[in-house]
Amino acid sequence: MPPCTTPSAPPPAACSSPRPQGSPTRRRATTTRRGSGRRSTSRRGSPSSLLCTRKARCSSARSGFDGVEIHGANGYIIEQFLKDSANDRIDEYGGSLENRCRFALEVVDAVVKEVGGHRVGIRLSPFTDYMDCHDSDPHSLALYLSTKLNDHGILYIHMIEPRMAIVDGRRVVPKRLLPYREAFKGTFIANGGYDREEGGKVVTEGYTDLVAFGRLFLANPDLPKRFEVGAELNKYDRMTFYTSDPVVGYTDYPFLE
Ligand SMILES: Cc1cc2nc3c(=O)[nH]c(=O)nc-3n(C[C@H](O)[C@H](O)[C@H](O)COP(=O)(O)O)c2cc1C
Repeated sequence: MPPCTTPSAPPPAACSSPRPQGSPTRRRATTTRRGSGRRSTSRRGSPSSLLCTRKARCSSARSGFDGVEIHGANGYIIEQFLKDSANDRIDEYGGSLENRCRFALEVVDAVVKEVGGHRVGIRLSPFTDYMDCHDSDPHSLALYLSTKLNDHGILYIHMIEPRMAIVDGRRVVPKRLLPYREAFKGTFIANGGYDREEGGKVVTEGYTDLVAFGRLFLANPDLPKRFEVGAELNKYDRMTFYTSDPVVGYTDYPFLE
């Protein structure tokens, strides 16, 4: 979802809005973790964040996009609500699993309302721990969301595998997402560590409907074509991951002739 920076709209308070000092709903003093600017969450923040969705609709329509993928993964704001390492609220947006998922489902509903469920997907990473965001029971979190999202009419769930394991010196994708694929009635997309061969295999075997590729796509702007013709792939360069240069390592990998 694009950031909400329209000057005319109030900024989304969301997760980083501290409650007034001494508020009875706070469990502990406002904390900022490792320079992320993240603070304890406040009730006041949640609904206003949904203004984002109007911006999302306008942006996606203007850009001719097919739809909106809600980013509920990798330590960003929605995941800060979902996971119990980050969410220390004691109101209806914190505590129980149901409460921690409330914000994500409200965002889903708001986006669905704006663009239609057939144009909405959500990215989730219950097993990762980016930006100190981890959960004490990721299986229950993933299962609850995958089941609950059936009621919200979205097109797909895009879920990231747990970290790859090393078995006999080889990197192996854990493939632990099947329970969530089975729980969700829409399209399921798996991501994390797949290549052409392994991706094709898991789709054929019915483990997932689709596979998303991150690093391979970054290094190969024509990845579908390369897969189709069995061409050699450009190797990605880790040294240029997450750098501020918008070109080097992002848009300068060569296409096939
Ligand atoms: C340079 C780079 C930037 C990324 N940026 C994001 C991001 O902004 N949000 C996100 O959820 N994942 C991000 N990812 C993670 C990828 O979307 C993907 O989940 C990860 O690379 C694992 O998939 P893969 O094994 O196919 O590469 C990024 C990965 C790389 C290498």
